[in-house]
Amino acid sequence: MSVVGVLVSGNGSNLQSLLDASRDGRLGAPVGFVLSNKPGVLALERARRAGVPSEVLSHREFPSREAFDARVVERLRAHGVDTVVLAGFLRVVTGVLLDAFPQRVVNIHPSLLPAFPGLDAQAQALVHGVKVTGCTVHLVDPGLDSGPILAQRAVAVLPDDTVETLRDRILAEEHKILPEMVAALVGGRVRLDGRRVTVLPVPPGQ
Ligand code: GRF
Repeated sequence: MSVVGVLVSGNGSNLQSLLDASRDGRLGAPVGFVLSNKPGVLALERARRAGVPSEVLSHREFPSREAFDARVVERLRAHGVDTVVLAGFLRVVTGVLLDAFPQRVVNIHPSLLPAFPGLDAQAQALVHGVKVTGCTVHLVDPGLDSGPILAQRAVAVLPDDTVETLRDRILAEEHKILPEMVAALVGGRVRLDGRRVTVLPVPPGQ
């Protein structure tokens, strides 16, 4: 059976959606390990409350991104992880992590990629003046928020939206599609054809 590992840096509301889905049987796999690159964040408390082992690994203690990722891989493997979710993990990952878990690293991003990659995607959307934005779950490749797309949800931008109000409405959608796509991945329902991904439906009776 698959074991999901979640990398976080902050609030961890997406982590919570995975913990809840795992508890309810919707994920089809346990969340077996949570790793944060920052100490004292709420995500770590969420892991503790759910009884999931967690660790803090500060990237500042490593001479390079690759050296940090090598230790991350070692900690994930030590907990039997085979599927990795970047859930608000504010680090660019390298080939060291991606090669260790081929096509098994997933990211959630708060825009309709390829629009607004990188930081502050909600603010980017407001500044640009788009009428629709949303969120994207994608497989991670070496680029910035550039891997094959598993799922997207659209969210309307309202005339009086602030970064905060828009962020919260996008997050509500993130919390739906992230567990669904992680369930598809661990359930072997993801087919990749170049950049095009087909997510097969849950077989009847499951
Ligand atoms: C989310 O908006 C996610 O899309 C982005 O970082 C934020 C993390 O939020 N990558 P949380 O820590 O899961 O609450």
